[in-house]
Amino acid sequence: MSFKCTKIYEDTYDKYVLISTSDKINLPNFLDKNSKKLAEEIIKKNNFTAKSSEKISMTLVNDKKLLDLRIIGLGEKNKLNNKNIRQYLYDGLKDITGKVFVAFLDKELDNMDVVAEVVEHINYKFDKYFSQKKEKFLEVSYLTDKKVPKLIEGYELSKISNIVRDLVNEQAEVLTPKALADKAVDLGREYGFEVEIYDEKKAKKLGMNSYLSVARAAHHRPYVIVMRYKGEAKSKYTYGLVGKGLTYDTGGLSLKPTDGMLTMRCDMGGAATVIGSMCSLAKMKVKKNVTCVVAACENSIGPNAYRPGDILTAMNGKTIEVTNTDAEGRLTLADALTYIAKHEKVDEIIDVATLTGAIMIGLGEDVTGVFSNDDKIARKLIDSSEKWNEYFWQMPMFDLYKRNLKSSYADMQNTGVRYGGSINAAKFLEEFIEGKKWIHLDIAGTAWASGSNPYYTQKGATGQVFRTIYSYIKE
Ligand code: BES
Ligand code: MN
Ligand code: ZN
Repeated sequence: MSFKCTKIYEDTYDKYVLISTSDKINLPNFLDKNSKKLAEEIIKKNNFTAKSSEKISMTLVNDKKLLDLRIIGLGEKNKLNNKNIRQYLYDGLKDITGKVFVAFLDKELDNMDVVAEVVEHINYKFDKYFSQKKEKFLEVSYLTDKKVPKLIEGYELSKISNIVRDLVNEQAEVLTPKALADKAVDLGREYGFEVEIYDEKKAKKLGMNSYLSVARAAHHRPYVIVMRYKGEAKSKYTYGLVGKGLTYDTGGLSLKPTDGMLTMRCDMGGAATVIGSMCSLAKMKVKKNVTCVVAACENSIGPNAYRPGDILTAMNGKTIEVTNTDAEGRLTLADALTYIAKHEKVDEIIDVATLTGAIMIGLGEDVTGVFSNDDKIARKLIDSSEKWNEYFWQMPMFDLYKRNLKSSYADMQNTGVRYGGSINAAKFLEEFIEGKKWIHLDIAGTAWASGSNPYYTQKGATGQVFRTIYSYIKE
């Protein structure tokens, strides 16, 4: 464990970090008179005013011992929020390793769950495939008088975030649909939710033909993962979660170019997100009922591949002309949505999917697209993201876009036109929700970082979005 709380100062740490707003730098009492005076002079001489992400380091002689001190700036207190405070803490702490003592100089900001989250985030790495592992970690003892329970949420959710990131970062040859299903079973046991796995035969019996067509060519066979958490036996209200679970997306016969394919192991990011939501709700014993479905498979090529021009009959009876086999996510989600709406009797549905490259054209890499048939619940979900360093934006769902899905040969086609691509995809999904209240989250941008985001500086999985879903269902 790289984070713990302490109520007392000790002189045994490698480094001491003080976190200050620019309103007033209140040096702590564990510095003796002389070192305090020296620190004040160094601060003054360097014009350090604790502006956001500003930092200053110094070595003092405190109580006859050398003390390595760093002060991290948060800027003005009244400008702080849950997003930027994480960024400033990250900027201040990210280059430190070893045993570090951390304290807020403004007791009102004393916020251990946020610090725990940032520390876990800094320590996360996916170095499984390096022969030399990174050995230097940041180990924080955090000075606080507050009670520990608040910490559990910050710390436990960070551990779950690391699980989500590991799943998304793992290569597709290892994280197959079967491996994902096995992992869900293990997590269900560990965190306390029920998991049922359906093989291809059972999926076929259920009529999940649209999903199974996508799965057809791959060597790694498809599995449907059904997870149920009952936190409130008295209530019948059940939230439904659906995650896109493409363990790899080659594009199928509408093959992707190599550059576009390179990171397509991330295409089960929606599945990892909803599994992470299940783990957090169960861990925090949230008094809600949640059922979650992932129709996992791989979109591959081969003699048995489904083709552009094929016409599929989805589980709900609607027919779909496949105009592009690379628009496969919506074909798998179609049956997963019908299944959860009809067989699991959920009251509202949230689906999460790395669905379209177009959402990155529209919103960039750092914002999740929100699509819904109910503005109220969409608003509530977006509000739930305020607590976290995650960004959401609602997109339009005008029926105008439905014309883009018209087909000359079937009830609809799976692709539509290029313009408004993310919305066309959402309008397609809307055909399969059986009239339930529903939110679709397009995380094609946010599941995976290119390294340019100042908080997600590591390339690869971000572990975003499950926290917002957790808060939405909890509140
Ligand atoms: N998995 C991709 C979307 C994606 C793109 C996720 C980039 C993450 C990063 C999805 O299956 C896909 O290929 N979508 C197509 C749809 C098109 C064929 C209508 C796309 O976005 O180009
Ligand atoms: Mn695709
Ligand atoms: Zn895909």
